[in-house]
Amino acid sequence: MDKLRIVGGGKLKGEIRISGAKNSALPAMAACLLTADEVLLTNIPFVADIRTTRRLLVELGVQVEFEDGHAVRAKAERIRSHEAPYELVKTMRASVLALGPLLARTGKARVSLPGGCAIGARPINLHLKGFEKLGARVKTEYGYVEAEGKTLTGATIVFDKITVTGTENLMMAAVLAKGTTTLDNAACEPEVVDLAELLTKMGAKIAGAGTPTITIEGVSKLHGATHAIIPDRIETGTFLIAGAITGGELELTACNPGHLTSVIDKLGEVGVPIETGADTLRVKGGSPLIASDVITREYPGFATDMQAQYMALMTQAKGIAVINENIFENRFMHASELMRMGANIRIEGARAIVAGKVRLTGANVIASDLRASASLVLAGLVAEGETVVDRIYHLDRGYERIEEKLQSVGAQIERVK
Ligand code: EPU
Repeated sequence: MDKLRIVGGGKLKGEIRISGAKNSALPAMAACLLTADEVLLTNIPFVADIRTTRRLLVELGVQVEFEDGHAVRAKAERIRSHEAPYELVKTMRASVLALGPLLARTGKARVSLPGGCAIGARPINLHLKGFEKLGARVKTEYGYVEAEGKTLTGATIVFDKITVTGTENLMMAAVLAKGTTTLDNAACEPEVVDLAELLTKMGAKIAGAGTPTITIEGVSKLHGATHAIIPDRIETGTFLIAGAITGGELELTACNPGHLTSVIDKLGEVGVPIETGADTLRVKGGSPLIASDVITREYPGFATDMQAQYMALMTQAKGIAVINENIFENRFMHASELMRMGANIRIEGARAIVAGKVRLTGANVIASDLRASASLVLAGLVAEGETVVDRIYHLDRGYERIEEKLQSVGAQIERVK
């Protein structure tokens, strides 16, 4: 199993190009199931989850080719299978995104139920309730969820709780349904908007994506399209914190600053000035960091996917920061590893209380999920001595060549086999 070895203490300086958003590319690839025509997706991040999605699509009968320049060409001329097996779903929960499009295109979908994971129980009950509202019969047995419905019919679906992939799944199911579907209390994340844009290019009729009410007028058929995936806002935020925590100076290119307002504002409160360009961000660290509380919220609030990285930063800020995790019930696994590096953190239910500034020292640490891994890498960059981050397959699921990008701006980081 690969590990990352980091020698901390250096200031990062230089330019990093941001990759396409993993959480946008995954639903976009699933959307290819909705048409027999070819779909060309560009700005795809070549990360492990994308390779897993390719395996899933191939399993279902889709021709999928990776092309130079981060493109994926997919053609689902005929769907051979309507089942996402356990072997794939257990490595990537986002496989559940096949449910909506398979159901819409073939009238049938069978997907292994993803269990809980390192950050929470993560049920998909709201996805299933939505499919039932559209007229599908849904049953769960033998560890699989099976949805069937030859003709889906538009309906009004009010989500009990805001769910990102739930909104995406229902949007993909509704585009080929008969009549109009309204999704209320829908997720407003940029990734939902990006999916709506792709579906619209494919011939879908969608209004309101990016607001809590999305209206979808069903059409009988979708066609091929070409679409560029939006920049990864979480990768961007992670590198902003890398600049801030090392007291360095980084220029991030090919990003979308508009998607990071809450992170940029928060870093401003902490004492990290950020200059915003059209598709660039410049972070200048070095001033003393001041602790600031944060509550994770759905977009446009402070993203739960930035919480672990922010916690690493708060170990270097003067004062007490209370971090409230409001989206997932168990997303503090990184805290105990940060504490092994010298952090002063107390967990009280959904709150982490971080006291700084402390001297972090290198240690062998274990990553428990994708963003927790990023947090440990950030802590390693500022810790004295050597940090070895184990189980970085989590990191490889969602960050494209993170060690190369960090090396290019002066970090002492290497992958060890
Ligand atoms: N929830 C339910 N029932 C459902 C669906 C969700 O109770 O049917 C709950 C969840 O348990 C959670 C909350 O609702 O407490 C929000 O979950 P959501 O469904 O929005 O999460 P997700 O769609 O499974 C996506 C991202 C996550 C990100 C969350 C929140 C993808 C592929 N994944 O997950 O990304 O943390 O939204 O923004 O888009 C990551 O990239 O590291 C990651 C975990």
